[in-house]
Amino acid sequence: MKKNIVVAASGSGSNFKALIDATQTGILNAKISGLIASREDIGAVQFAIQAAIPVYVLKNEPSSLGDQILEAMENFGGELLVLAGFLRKIPEEVIQKYSDRILNIHPSLLPKYGGKGFYGIRVHQAVINAGETHSGCTVHLVNEDYDQGRILAQKTVEVRHDDEPIDLAARILREEHQLYARTIQQYLESLNA
Ligand code: GRF
Repeated sequence: MKKNIVVAASGSGSNFKALIDATQTGILNAKISGLIASREDIGAVQFAIQAAIPVYVLKNEPSSLGDQILEAMENFGGELLVLAGFLRKIPEEVIQKYSDRILNIHPSLLPKYGGKGFYGIRVHQAVINAGETHSGCTVHLVNEDYDQGRILAQKTVEVRHDDEPIDLAARILREEHQLYARTIQQYLESLNA
């Protein structure tokens, strides 16, 4: 039986799209049973519509975020919650109910350049400002502390001397698309073992 994965996204959704593709090529042997979207006008929603994946659009109501996510997981029969550029902090009640069942991808080599305030282009700007020669991406489990759950996989990417943050972001994003699907697949296999 294929496991049901629910993806949560707030942005362009390129990782979400890569996961859809991976389910079609068989790299990821799971069903994406739903998308939780921060807003209805984000790119991820378009990818969901194209792939006939049902969408749950969150209301802009912070106090009920946990209930909304729990309701969406229930509706979609979600067994794993996969964050793909989801910018809201996952409420504790969700983390408790889906302990070790929530994954995230972050565009740096955690624990470096993670935590509150490190998202999007800010991550890559900080990496370049610090003169790092390498950065990358990390797939990790989600716990109560931002970007601090157990690391499942990382991929290192070179930082070039003339990189602008946007160049580094693009190079890392390409690796994210490969790493996320493969790591989710391995994680699902480890749950079945
Ligand atoms: C990615 O860089 C991911 O690491 C981070 O948010 C970004 C999402 O990009 N968590 P996309 O919406 O999947 O294109």
